Amino acid sequence: MPLPKAELHLHIEGTLEPELAFALAARNGVSLPYADEDALREAYRFADLQSFLNLYYELMAVLRTERDFEDLANAYLARAAAQGVRHAEIFFDPQAHLARGVEMGTVVEGLWRALGSSRENHGVSTRLILCFLRDESAESARETLDAAKPYLDRITGVGLDSAEVGHPPVKFREVYEAAAALGLRRVAHAGEEGPPEYVVEALDVLGVERIDHGLRSVEDPALVERLVRERVPLTLCPLSNVRLRTVDTLADHPLPAMLDAGLVCTVNSDDPAYFGGYAGDNFDAVRQALGLTEERLRDLARNSFLASFLEDDEELRAR
Ligand code: HPA
Ligand code: ZN
Repeated sequence: MPLPKAELHLHIEGTLEPELAFALAARNGVSLPYADEDALREAYRFADLQSFLNLYYELMAVLRTERDFEDLANAYLARAAAQGVRHAEIFFDPQAHLARGVEMGTVVEGLWRALGSSRENHGVSTRLILCFLRDESAESARETLDAAKPYLDRITGVGLDSAEVGHPPVKFREVYEAAAALGLRRVAHAGEEGPPEYVVEALDVLGVERIDHGLRSVEDPALVERLVRERVPLTLCPLSNVRLRTVDTLADHPLPAMLDAGLVCTVNSDDPAYFGGYAGDNFDAVRQALGLTEERLRDLARNSFLASFLEDDEELRAR
């Protein structure tokens, strides 16, 4: 029995496995510039975040209809459930779809077809988090939030993702204020490739409740002390860090030191189709490479529920 856990850092578009990509390409008459699934897998060698993002956005071309988003989410939920995920807070990137002429309603309602029945079908409760692309303009983020207004009953929070360096959190101050005024929860990627200052800014300017990644926080002792004191959860993604070369090898990952420092760490999969593993695979990988004890692994799983947006009674049932 895999350890029951919540997944708090998962991009639904990053769960697009090669098999499904080709099946959806055929269904929608979209041609992919790869001969077959193996040729596509060959492209999964990334030098950094941007080289991954290029492929991630390219493959989204196959996602066109509500049914496509439903199939994508159901495939993820089935895999996650098999690895012990009982609750998933799922990011989606509407701007990447709107830019291709796929409407907000198609994305949200399609995802909801799977998420709305996920408890019954997969034993996994869910939340949906709308991410703004930080390499797009602040105006575009604002328009995206406006486009999401008819669907706010389906959306729990907002996040910030895509190319980090050169796109500091402060760029999105106004749209985060607007999101907060709408009652949305707030998270942001920070300190993945960007400096620790971006983590500070995400907290102080955007008012986020969790930091996605936050890996580079370890470079700033005062920041670490603050994150510990304020019990700010970090949603770490170890296999992602290796594949995107933010750490050299898994054995070099600072997770054990971060736990020793008292940081509220969680372990997540980020873009599992691209980075070689789902939530349980990430747990297995850190256990093996870093020699984490069973107690430490249970702490990580416990942190994942505590750091989630589940309400108390619901949280207990999910565990
Ligand atoms: N970082 C930033 N943006 C992303 C990622 C990531 O790991 N995955 C999908 N969008
Ligand atoms: Zn991410």
